[in-house]
Amino acid sequence: MTLAEYMAAEQKAVDAALDRWVPREDQNPATIHRAMRYSLFAGGKRIRPLLAIAAAQAVSDAPVGIESCACALEMIHTYSLIHDDLPALDNDDLRRGRPTCHKVFGDAMAILAGDALLTLAFEVLSKMDHTDATRRIELVRELASASGTVDGMIGGQVNDIEGEGKHPTARLLESIHRAKTGALLRASVRMGGIYAGANADQLDALTSFGEHVGLAFQMVDDILDVEQSSEALGKTAGKDAAQKKITFPAVYGIERSREMAEEERLAAHLALQPFDDRAQRLRQLADLVVRRQA
Ligand code: IPE
Ligand code: IPE
Ligand code: MG
Ligand code: MG
Ligand code: MG
Repeated sequence: MTLAEYMAAEQKAVDAALDRWVPREDQNPATIHRAMRYSLFAGGKRIRPLLAIAAAQAVSDAPVGIESCACALEMIHTYSLIHDDLPALDNDDLRRGRPTCHKVFGDAMAILAGDALLTLAFEVLSKMDHTDATRRIELVRELASASGTVDGMIGGQVNDIEGEGKHPTARLLESIHRAKTGALLRASVRMGGIYAGANADQLDALTSFGEHVGLAFQMVDDILDVEQSSEALGKTAGKDAAQKKITFPAVYGIERSREMAEEERLAAHLALQPFDDRAQRLRQLADLVVRRQA
């Protein structure tokens, strides 16, 4: 199976699981369910679910039920995007090739749709059928801390917003990126490993892999914001410079940023040395994260 075929098959499985977990559009109160589904099914790349599934497959042959774990990650990620786009944060009109959630449903409903996806993510983890209670709690802890304020996604968003217009230093840059994006990508890989019963050495290797891929992911996001069109990205290009964000291109320039993303890709590969061919999809996903054009 090619990587494209593998991704299409896993994305389909994740989308089917998301469809089962999220209340139907006609479920009362209908507006919030329409808003949640509008953003969830707008065609995201599903990178976090794919990383979780590939990490689980690196550890165990057939990690039954891993899609639910992947759904929880995608719910947190989509909530973070809905809130990231709000007028009070990045104030964006375009996301995943569509008008942003608040443009269609209004600010109040977009805030609530984000809140609802955040809450549902933990409900999903608590209800997973194929894993025992101890492991479910480990997964809850992992996702909660990666999404939280101390070195997690929300903390990173705070530093990103407060960093606007500030002098972009290398130190501030790395701490923002590790938290706002890196933490959830690291958690994606770790949660896949935890779900599949990784031992301590395997989990260490997956953690290191996730950190390198996480940093590379936001480096590339920053580079694409400079180089690509809004049409190609499905979100407004050139926003970072306009909002004076602290980004890799702002600190290092495009060429050096690209080299640094490539260094992270190689370090991610090196981290997977303890794994055999079963980690091949993870290696390919690291390559895709760095070489993607959108
Ligand atoms: C965009 O994430 C936001 C960042 C954390 C950089 P993705 O590039 O994974 O967005 P989707 O899910 O494919 O829309
Ligand atoms: C957002 O980073 C990271 C999140 C936690 C959502 P960006 O603000 O760079 O993401 P985009 O470029 O709008 O997707
Ligand atoms: Mg932002
Ligand atoms: Mg943004
Ligand atoms: Mg960006």
